[in-house]
Amino acid sequence: MEQITFFHPAKIVFGKGCVDQFIMDIEKEGKKNIYMLAVDALKDITANIKRKLETKGIKVSVNESLQAEPSFADLEKLKIEADSVNADAIVGVGGGSVMDTAKMLAAIVNTDINAKDYVGIGLLKQRNTYLACLPTTSGTGSEVSPNAIFLDEADMDKKGVISPFLVPDASYVDPMLTVGAPPTVTASTGLDALTHCIEAFVNKFAHPMTDLYALEGIRLIGKSLVDAYNDGNNIEARENLSLGSLYGGLCLGPVNTGAVHALSYPLGSKFKIPHGIANALLLPYVMQFNAKYQSERYAKVAAALGVEISGSNEDMAQKGVDVVFEIMKKCNVPLRLSEINISRDDFEMIATSALKVQRLLKNNVKEIYRGDALKIYENAY
Ligand SMILES: [Fe+2]
Repeated sequence: MEQITFFHPAKIVFGKGCVDQFIMDIEKEGKKNIYMLAVDALKDITANIKRKLETKGIKVSVNESLQAEPSFADLEKLKIEADSVNADAIVGVGGGSVMDTAKMLAAIVNTDINAKDYVGIGLLKQRNTYLACLPTTSGTGSEVSPNAIFLDEADMDKKGVISPFLVPDASYVDPMLTVGAPPTVTASTGLDALTHCIEAFVNKFAHPMTDLYALEGIRLIGKSLVDAYNDGNNIEARENLSLGSLYGGLCLGPVNTGAVHALSYPLGSKFKIPHGIANALLLPYVMQFNAKYQSERYAKVAAALGVEISGSNEDMAQKGVDVVFEIMKKCNVPLRLSEINISRDDFEMIATSALKVQRLLKNNVKEIYRGDALKIYENAY
């Protein structure tokens, strides 16, 4: 067995209503001046948290300006504001964009660190400000991961800062915060979480410790994503998705994702396709591409997705791909690149961008060359 290292938040709280635990904990931590990044669309949630904190005598500055695909420029703007507030804690209440930004902000606030200089694995070696994350979607798992991804507007590529110092001090996964998410967001973020779990399980560096989380995450998300999409108030489905997403997030540090994420990044950075949809558009095609190299693992993915165990591993693997397509259809997400205004003429440019993401491609069971990337895009078209 290979060696593996997990960097968990010191505290992970999961469960309905645990946002109240966050309020109690932050008071106990003695924090007096919080800078909170949040989402404009979730003003009610944010206002409720702010009010509860203020009744404890805690000052709260809220910024709700962040949009999807945050850039290094966005981060710099927020740093200026956060520096002026002189906050003793940074809190992210939102989806992956908000949490990634909150994580990086906590590392650079009141320092002269330029985030762009720390793109890569393990280069960031400090964070002096307390950091808590509260996800409002069941998707990115950013609340427990050491990753923060930003758009570099210089070349319109997505770049990651990966460091244990980006793992929050505490994360509060309250499924009730996801209840108001619209079906499109539920679908997109749920498919992202499913991709995290699948890419962790079929990862070249897969490990029995991450397998536990990954397989159970696949099972939970496979079972509940369509239910939560059809009825956002289905609390059991919301809980399953939140837990599955958390499990996916716990795999991101130790083994991370692979070819699906690498090949999908340019769809987000160049074409503004939501991260989860971009992944979903490539997930079944990368599964088909990889399955011949590790059919046994893909058969287990299929079983976790509810496929009855029978026939060869190859047959099972294909049935797993069919289930993913079924979930995508039921969630009304596009199944092909041709449905989202990407032309075949874009493939060379997209492939060039994707092949730069070697930090993830190295995790794929089979090395991905330019010809492989182009073939996968063609299959997905
Ligand atoms: Fe992702």
